[in-house]
Amino acid sequence: MRIDVIGGGPAGLYFAILAKKSLPNAAVSVVERNRPDDTFGFGIVLSDETLANLKAADEPSYRDIAASFAYWDDIYTWYRGEVMKSSGHGFSGIRRLTLLGILQRRAAELGVEVRYGVEDAGIESHRGADLVVAADGINSRVRESLAQSFRPTVEMRPNRFVWLGAKMTLPGFTYSFRENEHGLWNLHAYMYTEGECTLVVETTNEAFLASGLGVEDERATAAYVEKLFAEELGGGKVLTNRSFWRQFPVVRCATWHHENVVLLGDAAHSAHWSIGSGTKLAMEDAIALHGALMRHVHNPRRAPGEYESERRQEAERIQHSANTSLVFFENVRRFWHMDPVQFNFALMSRSKQITYENLRMRDAKLVAEVDRWWTRRVAEAEGVRLPKDFAPPPPMFSPFTLRGMKLRNRVVVSPMCQYSATDGMPDDWHLVHYGSRALGGAGLMFTEMTCVAADARITPGCTGMYKAEHVLAWKRIVEFVHARSEAKIALQLGHAGRKGSTQLLWEEMDMPLKSGNWPIVAPSPLPYHPGVSQVPREMSRADMDRVKAEFVRAAEMGVECGFDMLELHMAHGYLLAGFISPVTNRRTDEYGGSLENRLRFPLEVFAACRAVWPNDKPMSVRISATDWIPGGLTGEDSVAIAKALKAVGCDLVDVSTGQTDPASKPVYGRMYQLVFAEQIRNEAGIATMAVGAITTADQVNTIVASGRADLAALARPHLADPYFTLHAAAECGYHDVGWPKQYLSGAQQAYTLAQRAKEDAARKAAQSTAGGLEWKKRAA
Ligand SMILES: Cc1cc2nc3c(=O)[nH]c(=O)nc-3n(C[C@H](O)[C@H](O)[C@H](O)COP(=O)(O)OP(=O)(O)OC[C@H]3O[C@@H](n4cnc5c(N)ncnc54)[C@H](O)[C@@H]3O)c2cc1C
Ligand SMILES: Cc1cc2nc3c(=O)[nH]c(=O)nc-3n(C[C@H](O)[C@H](O)[C@H](O)COP(=O)(O)O)c2cc1C
Repeated sequence: MRIDVIGGGPAGLYFAILAKKSLPNAAVSVVERNRPDDTFGFGIVLSDETLANLKAADEPSYRDIAASFAYWDDIYTWYRGEVMKSSGHGFSGIRRLTLLGILQRRAAELGVEVRYGVEDAGIESHRGADLVVAADGINSRVRESLAQSFRPTVEMRPNRFVWLGAKMTLPGFTYSFRENEHGLWNLHAYMYTEGECTLVVETTNEAFLASGLGVEDERATAAYVEKLFAEELGGGKVLTNRSFWRQFPVVRCATWHHENVVLLGDAAHSAHWSIGSGTKLAMEDAIALHGALMRHVHNPRRAPGEYESERRQEAERIQHSANTSLVFFENVRRFWHMDPVQFNFALMSRSKQITYENLRMRDAKLVAEVDRWWTRRVAEAEGVRLPKDFAPPPPMFSPFTLRGMKLRNRVVVSPMCQYSATDGMPDDWHLVHYGSRALGGAGLMFTEMTCVAADARITPGCTGMYKAEHVLAWKRIVEFVHARSEAKIALQLGHAGRKGSTQLLWEEMDMPLKSGNWPIVAPSPLPYHPGVSQVPREMSRADMDRVKAEFVRAAEMGVECGFDMLELHMAHGYLLAGFISPVTNRRTDEYGGSLENRLRFPLEVFAACRAVWPNDKPMSVRISATDWIPGGLTGEDSVAIAKALKAVGCDLVDVSTGQTDPASKPVYGRMYQLVFAEQIRNEAGIATMAVGAITTADQVNTIVASGRADLAALARPHLADPYFTLHAAAECGYHDVGWPKQYLSGAQQAYTLAQRAKEDAARKAAQSTAGGLEWKKRAA
C-alpha cells in the first residue's frame, strides 16, 4: 500500500507514525516544505484527555511527549488592577519544536520517509497512491485545488493577534486585560518549559490600527508589548519568531474527503487558539483516520468517508466552542464594566464548556466567591440588607425586580402555544397546563402567544384576547396562579401576520389550513412558503390603525385579568417582526427601508400598549435578534432595536432568534441564542431574558452569574418537567423555593434522592481523578 502525506505538522506526522506502525510494509511518505528544525510559534497546550488518547495510540511517542511537558493547574487573570487565581484546570504545555522533533524521530524510527524542505508538487503527483492525506495546514493548497469537492469556507475574524515568546517563569496560565489610548488588549501567556513562555497578544482591528504598529514590524511589536504588559512580564524581554499580526481564519469544509484524498487537522477545520485545541484536533484526527484505515486495510478508499462520519461531530463541537470563545475575545468591551469577580467568571465560562458546576469541581473556593459577590450585588439592587453571616443561594435562586414585579428566582417558563383553544378561548387544558407549571417553582411564566383578534391567530387552536369571554377564562387562570403559587404570570400578545391561518403544530406546521382559511395581512405581500402559503395583503395605514387598536384592546383586557407583565411578540416572523426584518419588509413608505422606518409601527404599537398598561407593571418584547439569513437582522441591529424599545419604556428584551423565513439557517447548540442576550444586555444596557436550548440548572446559574442575561427561559424542558425549578432546588440542596405545602412529603424525598445522587457522582469523580493523578505522576 502507498500512503502519501502532504505536510509534516502534528496531523501529518502523527498519522504517518500510526499508519507505518500498523502497516510496516506500506510505503508511507511525508512531504514537508520546512526543514526539520524550522518552527513557527513557541509552545502548545494539550489537555489531560488528549494525553490519554495519545497514550492509547502510540505509547513510545506519548512517553517522550509527557516527559517534555510543563504542567500547570492554575489560571491567573489580571483585570483592572486585580489578579485573580482559579485552580484545577489541568493543562500541559510543550514547545512546538520539541513535539515536532519527537514525532520526526518516531517517524524515522518506524521507517516513514519524510522529505524535508520539499514543496509538494500538487495533487496530480500523488496519482499512484492508495491514500493521499492532505495535512497541509490552515492554508491548505490541496483544499483549494479541490475546492469544488471540499467546498471550503474561510471566514476571516476581525481581531488581530500575534504569537510571541518570553524567557520567564509564570505561576500558571495567565490572562491579562489592559486598556490604553488605542483600545483594549488581551494577553494569553503560558509556560511550555521551565523559564520559557508563549505569549499571544490580541486586540481589535481598530485598536491595532490606532496603535500604528505594522503587521510585520516585529521589533516595534515586541517593544509595545513589553511596555503594555511590563508588570505581568516582570519587565522581561519579549521574543519574536515570525511574529506577525494575523487575523484568525475559521475554516470549514462541506466535506473532508474526495475519492482517496482526505483532509486532516487545520486543513479541514480550524479552531481558535484561545481554547488551545488546534494540535489536539490535528492529532485526534490522525488517530481517527488511522482507525478507519485499519478497518478497511483491503479497501483504503473507504477509510476517508468513515473517518469523516466518525469525526465530524466532535470536530464541529470543538470548533463551535472555539468560535464561542473567540467571540468573547472579540467583544471584551462588552464585559469591561463588570466587577472583577464577574468578569473572571464570564471569562472562564466563555466557551460554555466550563460552567458554574464544572468550575465548582475545579475550584470550589472561586465559585463560593462568585456566589457571595453575586448575592451582595443582588441585595444591593433589590435594596435588601444582608446579615453578616449570610448563606448565598445559587445565583438562579436570587430575586429579580422589574418595576413593581418581584420575581422569586431567575427561571422562566417560556411562552408555548398549546394549539388547544376554540375561537381563542382557553379552557381546562390551559388551566391545568399553566396551573401545574405555576406550582413547579419558576419565578415567572408566560402565556402562549395570545392573539389580539380572530384573524390575528396563527392557527384555529391559538388562544386569543379579543372577546369578553376570553377575559373571564384568562382571569380564572391568573387567579389560580396568584392564589396557589408564588409565580408571576406574563401575557404574551401577538399577531400572526403572514404566518397566520396555518395548521396546528402536530399537523403541518406553517402550512395553510386545508379549509376555512381567513385573509391575512403583513407589511409586504410576501408568502411564507412561496407558491404554497397564502399571499398576505400589504397593510395600509388603516390596517395599521385597526391592528394597533386591537393590541391596545387586548392589553386593556390583560389588565382586567390581573396579569403581572405584558410582552409583545415581535419575533419569529409574526406581524410586528415582519415589519422589523428587512427580509420580510420591502415597503418603500415610511414603514420600510431603514431600521428606524421598519421599527416605526412596532414602536407605535408598543407605546400605545404602554400607555394603557399600569405604570408599576413591566413590559417586555420578544425579538428575533438575528434572522440567520444573509442581509437579514444581525446582533448589531438587535442592539439598536433594544435601545429603541428601552426609549419607549420597555423593561426587558426576551431574546430569541430566527423563524423569520424558511431560508433561515440557525446554528444550533447549547444555549445557542445566549450570545445575543449577552450582547443586548451589555451593549444596550437593558435587562434581557435568554432562551433556547437551556436545559439545566447549572446553565441557568452560569447565565445569570456571568452577566449574560438576567433571566433564563426554558420552553421544552418545562413541557417534560413542569417542576423543573423544584427539582433544581433539590439538586442544589436549596430549600427556600416555595414547594406547595401539599407536596412537602415529595420534597423531602426529592432532596434525599438528590443528595444521594450527588454523593455517588462525587465518589465516581474522585475515583477517576485518582486515576488521572496516578498516570500524571508516572508520566512526570
Ligand atoms: C505559524 C503557526 C504557529 C502556531 N503556533 C501555535 C502555538 O504556539 N500553540 C498552539 O497551541 N497552536 C499553535 N498553532 C496552531 C496549531 O499548531 C495547529 O492547529 C496545529 O499545528 C495543526 O496541525 P496540522 O498538522 O493540521 O497543521 P500545521 O501544524 O500547520 O502543519 C502543516 C504542515 O504542512 C506543511 N505544508 C503546508 N503546505 C505544504 C506544501 N505545499 N508542501 C509541503 N509542506 C507543506 C507546513 O509547512 C506545515 O509544517 C500554530 C499554527 C501556525 C500555522
Ligand atoms: C410547543 C412550543 C410552542 C411555542 N410557542 C411559542 C409562543 O407561543 N410564543 C413564543 O414566543 N415562542 C413560542 N415557542 C418558542 C419557545 O418559547 C422557545 O423560545 C423555544 O422553544 C426555544 O426554547 P427551548 O429550547 O427551551 O425549547 C414555542 C415553542 C414550543 C416548543
